[in-house]
Amino acid sequence: MARHLITSALPYINGIKHLGNMVGSMLPADVYSRYLRQRGHDVLYICATDEHGTPAELAAKEQGLPVAEFCAQAHDAQKAVYDGFALAFDYFGRSSSPQNREITQHFARRLNENGFIEERAIRQVYSPTDGRFLPDRYVEGTCPHCGYDKARGDQCENCTRVLDPTDLINPRSAISGSTDLEVRETKHLFLLQSKLQHEVEEWVAAHEEEWPQLASSIARKWLTEGLHDRAITRDLDWGIPVPADTWPELAAEGKVFYVWFDAPIEYIGATKEWSDADPENRNWKSWWYESDLGENPVRYTEFMAKDNVPFHTVMFPATQLGIREPWKKVDYVKAFNWLTYYGGKFSTSQKRGVFTDQALDILPADYWRYFLIANAPESDDSSFTWEHFTATVNKDLADTLGNFVNRVLSFSKKRFGDEVPAGKAAGAPETKLGEEIAGLLAEYETQMESLQFRKAAAALRALWSAGNSYLEEKAPWLEIKTDPEAAALTLRTAMNLIHLYAVVSEPFIPSSAAAMRAAFSLTSDTATWVSADEARALTAVPAGTPFTVPPVLFAKLTDEDLETYKERFGGDQA
Ligand code: 2FM
Ligand code: ZN
Repeated sequence: MARHLITSALPYINGIKHLGNMVGSMLPADVYSRYLRQRGHDVLYICATDEHGTPAELAAKEQGLPVAEFCAQAHDAQKAVYDGFALAFDYFGRSSSPQNREITQHFARRLNENGFIEERAIRQVYSPTDGRFLPDRYVEGTCPHCGYDKARGDQCENCTRVLDPTDLINPRSAISGSTDLEVRETKHLFLLQSKLQHEVEEWVAAHEEEWPQLASSIARKWLTEGLHDRAITRDLDWGIPVPADTWPELAAEGKVFYVWFDAPIEYIGATKEWSDADPENRNWKSWWYESDLGENPVRYTEFMAKDNVPFHTVMFPATQLGIREPWKKVDYVKAFNWLTYYGGKFSTSQKRGVFTDQALDILPADYWRYFLIANAPESDDSSFTWEHFTATVNKDLADTLGNFVNRVLSFSKKRFGDEVPAGKAAGAPETKLGEEIAGLLAEYETQMESLQFRKAAAALRALWSAGNSYLEEKAPWLEIKTDPEAAALTLRTAMNLIHLYAVVSEPFIPSSAAAMRAAFSLTSDTATWVSADEARALTAVPAGTPFTVPPVLFAKLTDEDLETYKERFGGDQA
């Protein structure tokens, strides 16, 4: 039994996430965690809302709420959606927690003691009307290169040139529209990442071979461009305050840490939140602090979309290295490309695509979980279309799995009553089936263990298909006419397949898996996984086991459903 620490990128607090966010972080992390738990490993899956930063402040303002209250409400709203998706976090924390504050401040002090922090004065745009310094992206104006009149102070969206807010012609505040802007001097803490470049390079070199190419190539690109010192504080009201014991002057001026400084630290912070909730039985440091890990080492896997890779493979490791304390660093970085909506961007701000709460309004979580993982943007971007979604649901879930379960159980009940029939002893077709199932199960395990989710989904689908082929070949509806004992054997074998599906499909479709399992009243059903021998034998559900026929597992989606979805969400308008 190994120990697995798993985290998924922390979703920003402002706004409910869309399906693209879900498939690139939390959902695969949940599937992987569930699988490892089933295999008997000790798993800790941690996530949290990422609550600091200007967007949170502005969203709170828009709703007329104090930012702390806005965040508390938004956290609960996101958590409710994740519960709906059956994401089985061990803990879902908040980056604004006291635990994160304490650890973030500790990290900053240590970096400072080790000579990796420097105070520097910079010139920044200040808006007297808004009463605040404006982050670069909140200064808008005309691009000096292409003349685009809605260019942002960090970058021009039209010509993609990187800008400085002071480059903009006719600058204005993106918050209030005010053109009364000044450039003021302000002091900030800078993390001297340039001094850590060499160490980060060595650390990446020691790990990248194991990482998927998407993660290592991004890390390499950033290292080649060179690590630059960067400001880790901001002039904002909301955030983790700079500790007054170390920087009294900056603390008095109300400086807080930049959201990207404290967000990854919240992986540790949230683990402490988890531990503080039950200190007798939980020990956060035994997951995070090398000298407290004990005999059984921890394997740490992170899940994220590709835009987050630089922060996790280069910047956060730089912070961790500079602390000079043995905090656990990531072992494996599972990165995802983009899920597009009809080839275009899912966009939170433009409300294009399908949001996670809307998805659950339409259909239960298992439909989404299966579709998204089976089409995860692993080696390339992948596109969500309603046509593809409905076709996949109908073929894989309704026909291949759901129909098999229903057909077998209803037919057996009609012909043999409420208990699994005995029938003949297994023959050559059952031996062949058992070999095939054992082979596919091994393939499924291999793909899950190497975090190849699309391939794992394909192996799962092949397991479901194998049952259908067996049933077609044996045709118990014909056997029953000439040899009822042969039909009983076929049905008993098929019912054993259903039980096997219940166990191995759990990471993908947990509710349906529970319904399949509950069909059988086994005296003690403690099976958490299926061994190769059990897969070959297919006898976990013995003759005489009472069973019931569950309601249809997956409803077929009709052409009208498809049209309704396309109309509501904008179909191919993207
Ligand atoms: O990109 C994002 O959505 C960020 N909120 C991810 C943060 S991940 C971690 F570092 F906290
Ligand atoms: Zn431009």
